[in-house]
Amino acid sequence: MPKTFFITTAIDYTNSPPHIGHAYEKVLADVIARYHRLKSNNVFFLTGVDQHGQKVQQSAAKAGVPPAEFVKDITQKFVDLWKKLDVKYDEWAETTDDRHKRVVRGILQRLFEEGQIYKDKQAGHYSVRQEQFLTDKERGPDGKFGPEWGEVEFREEENYYFRLSQYKDWLLAYLNKRADAVIPDFRQTELRNAVERLGGDLCISRPKSRLDWGIELPFDKDFVTYVWFDALTNYISFAGYDPSLSTFNSQSSTFCDKWPALQIIGKDILVPAHGIYWLIMLHAIGFPDDQIPQLLVHGWWNLGGAKMSKSAGNIIDPFALADKYDADALRYYLMRGIAMGNDADFDERRLITLFNSELANDFGNLLNRTLTMAQRYRSGLVRDLKDLVNDKFNAVVKTVRSKAELVTNALTLCWDTYEISLGLIGICELASRCNEVIEVTAPWRLAKRGFQGELDVVVYQLCEALRVIAILISPVLPKAAHGIFDQLNWRLELSGKEKRFCLEDAKWGGLPNGHVVGKPVPLFPRIEGT
Ligand code: MSP
Repeated sequence: MPKTFFITTAIDYTNSPPHIGHAYEKVLADVIARYHRLKSNNVFFLTGVDQHGQKVQQSAAKAGVPPAEFVKDITQKFVDLWKKLDVKYDEWAETTDDRHKRVVRGILQRLFEEGQIYKDKQAGHYSVRQEQFLTDKERGPDGKFGPEWGEVEFREEENYYFRLSQYKDWLLAYLNKRADAVIPDFRQTELRNAVERLGGDLCISRPKSRLDWGIELPFDKDFVTYVWFDALTNYISFAGYDPSLSTFNSQSSTFCDKWPALQIIGKDILVPAHGIYWLIMLHAIGFPDDQIPQLLVHGWWNLGGAKMSKSAGNIIDPFALADKYDADALRYYLMRGIAMGNDADFDERRLITLFNSELANDFGNLLNRTLTMAQRYRSGLVRDLKDLVNDKFNAVVKTVRSKAELVTNALTLCWDTYEISLGLIGICELASRCNEVIEVTAPWRLAKRGFQGELDVVVYQLCEALRVIAILISPVLPKAAHGIFDQLNWRLELSGKEKRFCLEDAKWGGLPNGHVVGKPVPLFPRIEGT
């Protein structure tokens, strides 16, 4: 069976509706998934929602509805958003799903029987927001728990614990051995430093008397499992993991074939959740080191330099933006306006500027001018003349081809390493080069002088460049890519379908001699006066 490119995202809390940060992560994952499909790789893209926990229980109580009803409504909002933003996943994870509960309980039972889970009493400081007990290591230089922990209270409680700390040496050795366990590099360093400080085990339960909106422990009906064994396990339960089989290799081939996964997460949930708890959990249930997932850690979208949060009231609503500017425009800004791993400030004016200068000017104008010229001077007929015109003219025009080849190669290098924004800059440069060639060769003058061969060469190069641009841009702008292809009259029978093109098709020379292109229709009308 061919290997599958398995990509996951964090599952989103259903204690409040989605915001632009959630949208960024899912669009990023979708772009990477679409890029791999474009490369003709088998792809399995998993995303979903995190439905249990104290915050959800509290929000439901506040809204005066049962938690199950509350999460159903919020879950629907996430599903609607992914549909609106063309986020195309292969499997949807909901942690209240029976499939998932079975796997979580199966894993907990096995670890309990192996003595990796034990009961103990704990008294200490507890972060309500992060849903965990805090130790002195979490205190800031001033001795206080920082604002990231939210409300901190004192609690005493009997609970179940997972023997996390016994795996510290394993995790350090793993991180030392695998330089790209976490991307970007500085996040791996951050994780390594955190592992060095690791001490203590992981509390994995809450008494039902305090929280009942969770998965009941299989070995103690008075407790539910709390946060991480529930949430993190989604990555395997919805990929077909069987908890009754204790070694990785005894799992089904459809499961094994997906590993190691690429897991996309925000910077806030690397330490300790994914970088420590998750990697150790996988190791503890028998994942070999070469099947441990790679973590791609993205930065955050902020607003005016400050963190977006519901309580601060500075949440950006992705639905409103997609309605106002269209899904493709929002996808473009989310991918173009932030460098992988860094934070960025969300700025609607920048969205408009990028849209007008890159989508409307570079791509839209190019499409419009090229098809207008093809229609006006050639009745839409595209002819691939090998060497009809003089060398000097050829030299100018052929720079389009060399630029297209350069950009295609550079894009794969960038996108193989998840530098989406850099790849987009390359595509813009190709479009600008085409627009320059139009200025330099002035096809309207060629037409006046009756230089038919030259006109054919220019029109062919530009149409071919547009075809390449449409393929390269398709993971980010799926609708627009089809729009360009429709106007080029290219494989119309596959209009709107993903299999219409693959990366191989971006090889120069795909438009056959004698092809007839369609009429121009504005694809990215400028956004005026906002
Ligand atoms: N439910 C947990 C994750 C469990 S994974 C097994 C969670 N949910 S969340 O809704 O708070 O966040 C979901 C994802 O969105 C995280 O990766 C988080 O980093 C990301 N983002 C939340 N706000 C964000 C921004 N402002 N900007 C970019 N991404 C942000 O954590």
